Amino acid sequence: MDDKQLLQLANEARANAYVPYSGFAVGAALLCKDGSVYTGVNVENAAYGPSICAERTAIFKAISEGNRRFVKLAVTCESDHCRPCGVCRQVMFEHAPDMEVLMGNPEGFFVRTTVRELLPDGFSLKHLPAT
Ligand code: THU
Repeated sequence: MDDKQLLQLANEARANAYVPYSGFAVGAALLCKDGSVYTGVNVENAAYGPSICAERTAIFKAISEGNRRFVKLAVTCESDHCRPCGVCRQVMFEHAPDMEVLMGNPEGFFVRTTVRELLPDGFSLKHLPAT
């Protein structure tokens, strides 16, 4: 699974986004160490608050299937390149702080980064003071 293929899977997933409120479809594809890929889309809700982003959908699908060895996450949306929100960055940081992130658009352009670059000095329970 190369970068272009992972971005393509993220982009294809966008067709399943449930976005009646924003009309803004986002797709994600998460590559795991065993080669499996979990896709995700944003799923919105009339009460707004319960909505979930594409990145977290993919991550939570993987975790709930017993897979937490994340290698790379691709995300695409109609933009110069898609940027994960702060909540998704925190979720990525919890499980895979060194994961690569490919931030793309439907035309195939993408920017390569890492979770640590997206969330420098992120919060983790490791930093709590000893009691
Ligand atoms: N959204 C994502 O799914 N991922 C992102 O990286 C940014 C934002 C969703 C949330 C909401 O459904 C829509 O895009 C507009 O904010």
